[in-house]
Amino acid sequence: MEPRRRVVLTGAGGQIGQAIVPLLPADWDVLCTDLEARKDVAALDVTDPDACHRFFTGADAVVHLAAVPDPAASWERLLPANVVGAYQVAEAAANCGVRRLVLASSLHAVSAVPAQTQVRTDDAPRPANLYGATKAWAEALGAWVAATTATSVVALRIGYFAVRRPEIETMPASEVSAWLSRRDAAELVRAAVEADGFTFIVAHGISANRYRRADLQDTMQQLSYRPVDDAWSS
Ligand SMILES: NC(=O)c1ccc[n+]([C@@H]2O[C@H](COP(=O)([O-])OP(=O)(O)OC[C@H]3O[C@@H](n4cnc5c(N)ncnc54)[C@H](O)[C@@H]3O)[C@@H](O)[C@H]2O)c1
Repeated sequence: MEPRRRVVLTGAGGQIGQAIVPLLPADWDVLCTDLEARKDVAALDVTDPDACHRFFTGADAVVHLAAVPDPAASWERLLPANVVGAYQVAEAAANCGVRRLVLASSLHAVSAVPAQTQVRTDDAPRPANLYGATKAWAEALGAWVAATTATSVVALRIGYFAVRRPEIETMPASEVSAWLSRRDAAELVRAAVEADGFTFIVAHGISANRYRRADLQDTMQQLSYRPVDDAWSS
């Protein structure tokens, strides 16, 4: 019998981690980690290289969600998790021979692209805030690891994650068109872990919205990502 695929999640106690873990494939052996231990979540500070190495040993994939996800955050707040932590995770995943590293990037990595332009996965980073710049840093680390080691990397430029469908009457269209639902987020992570045939790609993390801030063609094709939700359908 094939051994179960061991997948380590960082930042799994956060909004996205908590929402998607119950929806991940039942045949995965998922290890949830976060800064502080709680029920079904082990303590892993991603700024600690030895701890990262310990947790990633024997993993098939690492899904790196841990970060300060605040577009208004200062350098001091971003430095530990988003800058140092992203480096330690990338380095440890590669050193442990992990097959696939999935990095939670953000559409904030390209948030200076004018709102009326649909962003593409091959758009160069163009952040409009320091948080977006740290996500560009994470993407660069992913490209570096993929170019120099056997670990392949998917950087997910996630849009606007929310468990509830956005209020289209009151929310800006730029956010509604970047919505990522709970089940599509789980499907995206499944696809990013299981897909093959590349060393490094940037992918888009949004649902099958009628109007899309980000193009989905490349991501659906390269990862066999199959989103089902649409912010505009009731
Ligand atoms: N929520 C969104 O709409 C959105 C959009 C784009 C990108 N993202 C990215 O997706 C990822 C998850 O986002 P989220 O909304 O679940 O954020 P969240 O803040 O709810 O969860 C992040 C988790 O990371 C943990 N963390 C912070 N510093 C850590 C450290 N040093 N070591 C270990 N864990 C640490 C926190 O404790 C928290 O549980 C983040 O990388 C975020 O930047 C989120």
